Amino acid sequence: MKGKVILVTGGARGMGATHARLLVDEGARVVIGDLLEEEGELFAAQLGRSALYVRQDVTEPEDWGNAIASAESRFGVLDGLVNSAAIYSFAPIEQLSLEQWNKTLAVNLTGVFLGMQAALPAMRRAGGGSIVNISSAEGLRGSAGLNDYVASMFGVRGLTKSAALEAAASGVRVNSVHPGLVTGPTSKNQDGYRFPIPLGRAAHPQEVSHAVLFLLSDESSYLTGSEIVVDGGLTIGLPHKCLPPESIF
Ligand SMILES: NC(=O)c1ccc[n+]([C@@H]2O[C@H](COP(=O)([O-])OP(=O)(O)OC[C@H]3O[C@@H](n4cnc5c(N)ncnc54)[C@H](O)[C@@H]3O)[C@@H](O)[C@H]2O)c1
Repeated sequence: MKGKVILVTGGARGMGATHARLLVDEGARVVIGDLLEEEGELFAAQLGRSALYVRQDVTEPEDWGNAIASAESRFGVLDGLVNSAAIYSFAPIEQLSLEQWNKTLAVNLTGVFLGMQAALPAMRRAGGGSIVNISSAEGLRGSAGLNDYVASMFGVRGLTKSAALEAAASGVRVNSVHPGLVTGPTSKNQDGYRFPIPLGRAAHPQEVSHAVLFLLSDESSYLTGSEIVVDGGLTIGLPHKCLPPESIF
C-alpha cells in the first residue's frame, strides 16, 4: 500500500476507522470522510501526517467534490475509495416510515453511487484504482426488521457489479465486502447474541479490514465485480450444532 492514497467514508469510528488504521500501518495515506468532526479530527491527529480528516456527508455531491479535491491537493492523487459510511434502523415493514426508508437508502446506497461518480475521474487521472464498497451479509439474504438496510445492501452489491463493468477499461476495479456479525463499541454485538455462526463467534473488525486491504492492494489485481464474504460462514447454511443430530447423520 506504500504511497497509495485512499479515501475512507465513515472513517471516524467503527470499522471505517479500523480500515483507516490498518491502511496507514501498511504505508498508505488516508483521507477520513465523516460527519463526526470532533472524532474525525482527533482520529486523524492520532494517525499522524499520513491522515487527513474531511467533514463529509456522503449524501451531498458537493461534499464528495470537496473530499476528493482535498485528497488530491494534500496527497497528489486518489488511488482508492472505501465506502463504509452507513446507518441502520430496526422496524418491521409495516412500521417502517417512508422518511426512514429514504434516509437509509440515501446514506447507504445513494452515498455509494455519488462516491463512485465523484471518485472515478480522479482514479482515471491517477492511472487506475480500486473501489471497495462495504455491503453486508444482509446484502446476500433477507433479514426481518432490517428491510431498508437489506434493500440498501443488496443495492450496493448490484451497483458494484455494474460499476465494475464500466470502470474495467480505465483500470479501476470495483468490489464489495460483506461482513456478518462484527464486534465493536457501537455494534452491540459483543455478547448476548446467539446467531448460528459456523465459526462460533462474531468477527473482529480487523478481520474485515484485511479483506478491504487485499482489495485495495495490487495483490487483488485480477478481482473486479467480486464479493468477499467475511461472515464466519453465517450465510452458507446452518452449522451442525443448530441441527438435531438425527437430521445430520
Ligand atoms: N457492525 C456490523 O456488525 C456490520 C455488519 C455488516 C456490515 N457492516 C457495514 O460496515 C460498515 C461500517 O459499519 P460500522 O458498524 O462500523 O458502523 P458505525 O455506525 O460504527 O460507523 C459508521 C460511520 O459512518 C458515519 N456516517 C453515518 N452517516 C454518514 C453520512 N451521511 N456521511 C458520512 N458519514 C456518515 C458515522 O458518523 C460513523 O462514523 C457499514 O457499511 C455497515 O453497513 C457492519
